[in-house]
Amino acid sequence: MPSALITGATAGIGAAFARRLAADGFSLVLVARDEKRLLARAEELRLRYGVETEVLPADLASEEGLAAVERRLREGVDLLVNNAGFGLRGPFLDVPVADELRMLKVHCEAVLRLTLAALPGMRERDRGAVVNVASVAAFFTRGTYSASKAWVVNFSESAATELDGGRVRVMALCPGFVRTEFHERASMNVSGIPGFLWLSADDVVDEAMRDLARGVRVSVPDLRYKAVVAVGRLLPLNLTSRISRSIGRK
Ligand SMILES: NC(=O)c1ccc[n+]([C@@H]2O[C@H](COP(=O)([O-])OP(=O)(O)OC[C@H]3O[C@@H](n4cnc5c(N)ncnc54)[C@H](OP(=O)(O)O)[C@@H]3O)[C@@H](O)[C@H]2O)c1
Repeated sequence: MPSALITGATAGIGAAFARRLAADGFSLVLVARDEKRLLARAEELRLRYGVETEVLPADLASEEGLAAVERRLREGVDLLVNNAGFGLRGPFLDVPVADELRMLKVHCEAVLRLTLAALPGMRERDRGAVVNVASVAAFFTRGTYSASKAWVVNFSESAATELDGGRVRVMALCPGFVRTEFHERASMNVSGIPGFLWLSADDVVDEAMRDLARGVRVSVPDLRYKAVVAVGRLLPLNLTSRISRSIGRK
């Protein structure tokens, strides 16, 4: 039975990965901070899909949490999904620096360290994959959030290039707006975002898994967002910054 470790597995995109991978027959290691919720998810998945589930409560913004997940990954998994993440409300100059640093720890340091903990075993077996959840925001300018996600995309592309020739894959996943707990947790007002821009977490994960199987390195689910990213990659930075600012004001 193949195994997968998913960070942020209790809600939103991570929970959708857990459902999809359980349906595909993966045994799962579920990581998040809320232990009670982890246990409930693990039980649900075990009952519904008959797969083995393990919970690993860990705060990826803490040294202790990171070290615990690294240890588990060194025991070996076939798929790592670095998904845990969060948003911060308001312009970055108004956000306390401690929150910005916590974001860098979860979005960048955790992704780096967990990828490095998982890859040696995968390379030895010449089998396995890492999916790093970034964002369409990586191609625009929105403070530390977009900067951290741009790092995730660049890091994943670099790692994938280094692994060229083998069967181990690294892919960055860049969703647009997805209906999850993300915006509410960050107290963001998303009432101005038109309905047609919202994606479902299950659709995002299905497209990500198709892209992973095809060897895609940067997966952008949905045609609408492929167009948005193409524009973001082509336009000069000062123009994408202005677009980002005008969306941010809404
Ligand atoms: N929703 C969107 O529109 C969207 C768009 C693009 C990219 N993304 C990215 O997708 C990823 C998942 O977001 P989501 O929308 O699914 O968010 P979500 O519904 O709020 O779920 C976040 C998950 O991450 C866990 N988590 C948060 N902080 C953590 C920490 N310090 N340590 C360990 N686990 C932590 C949460 O559980 P606990 O609170 O129990 O720890 C929860 O399981 C994030 O990386 C986000 O940046 C989201």
